[in-house]
Amino acid sequence: MTPDEKRILLQKAANASSEGITISSMTEPDRPLIFVSDGFLNMTGYSRDEVIGKNCRFLQGQDTNESAVDRLRTAIANGEACTVELLNYSKNGTPFWNRLSITPIRDDHNTVTHYVGIQSDISALRKNINRLINANNDLEMFKHRIINDLDQARTAQQFLLPDKFPVSAKLNFASFFVPMEEIGGDFFDVIPLQDNHYGLLIADVTGHGIPAAMLTFMSSTAFSSVATSSLSCAETLSKVNMKLHEKMPEDKFLTMFYMIYNPETRLLKYSQAGHPDVIVLRTSLSKIIPLSTKGSLVGPFSSQEVSFEEKEIKLIPGDKVILYTDAVTDALDNYRDKNEENRFHNFLLKHAGLPLDSLFKNLYDFGLKENKLYSYPDDFTVLGFEVMD
Ligand SMILES: Cc1cc2nc3c(=O)[nH]c(=O)nc-3n(C[C@H](O)[C@H](O)[C@H](O)COP(=O)(O)O)c2cc1C
Repeated sequence: MTPDEKRILLQKAANASSEGITISSMTEPDRPLIFVSDGFLNMTGYSRDEVIGKNCRFLQGQDTNESAVDRLRTAIANGEACTVELLNYSKNGTPFWNRLSITPIRDDHNTVTHYVGIQSDISALRKNINRLINANNDLEMFKHRIINDLDQARTAQQFLLPDKFPVSAKLNFASFFVPMEEIGGDFFDVIPLQDNHYGLLIADVTGHGIPAAMLTFMSSTAFSSVATSSLSCAETLSKVNMKLHEKMPEDKFLTMFYMIYNPETRLLKYSQAGHPDVIVLRTSLSKIIPLSTKGSLVGPFSSQEVSFEEKEIKLIPGDKVILYTDAVTDALDNYRDKNEENRFHNFLLKHAGLPLDSLFKNLYDFGLKENKLYSYPDDFTVLGFEVMD
């Protein structure tokens, strides 16, 4: 290939690219353009005659970012390469974003004789990036709003729980509740009923987040409006179910365990609605007595479809009655769902001598330690009372 053929080939190659390719002379006054590719002319709308011999700054205008021009100036003064994004204007005044890379060309004495520049129109890219940045900002704002809403729902949800328990010489109440981060659906209540009876409820609504919080409010309100000492435990659950069934979404339900305790006779009546068994820890005999009855879940079935059984047990001094939700036992066998009940019972027997509140706290810590967790993946809820002499 002759030198002329080579030159023509290079020129053709430069013109074939849609990017702008330019060469400025560094040895002539004001560093004029001595070569511009077809891509550059298409991008800027000028003809070759209009630009050859001029410094390329003619593309700059009112809103061109000065900092980018400064960087170009410094790079050229130091004989260095440089890449900037700057606002340029085409011949008809339309602004466009130009990603410009300039690179020095040196002669045999290492003197910079020319600079080659590559121009790319990145207006569409910047528009998309800006759109993405705006969308991302909107998402961030939305995320903060959701987190704020969740915080408020979590705070409101905790108002549903009793802040203090009734005081009695015949029994001592205790509870331990640590809500999960995302918002769970556990709640419990201790209601003084007529004749010094007490109603104790523990419940777990399916799901997490705002829907669970809303169902918790609905269910807790339904329960408070129904529970009286004139109704048995089973009747109370039936009535709560009736109230909730019509309003509850079809795929949602809750489990409940409700009991009424008479401290005078030490008679405990109870009814279970799909909830984990309650445990009576008979400390005097080192014995576990699980309390269970037949009963439907609350919510999905109509009054005709549900039935709740009721049973009773006579307690003795020293008995500890423990109501809990499944997060408590799930953690005890590393969520393998095999041996959790045994481990739970063994734990209770081993710590039977502790006051209830310490027992609950130890149980919480034990589950975390077993699973090397900092927090539980669900609400951790335990409620109970100890029968005094
Ligand atoms: C090869 C080369 C190509 C250039 N292309 C552009 C360009 O497309 N757009 C632009 O605004 N400036 C471009 N410049 C930068 C200007 O020509 C000039 O160097 C810059 O405005 C800073 O110098 P000044 O202070 O003399 O204006 C280019 C510079 C060189 C060396």
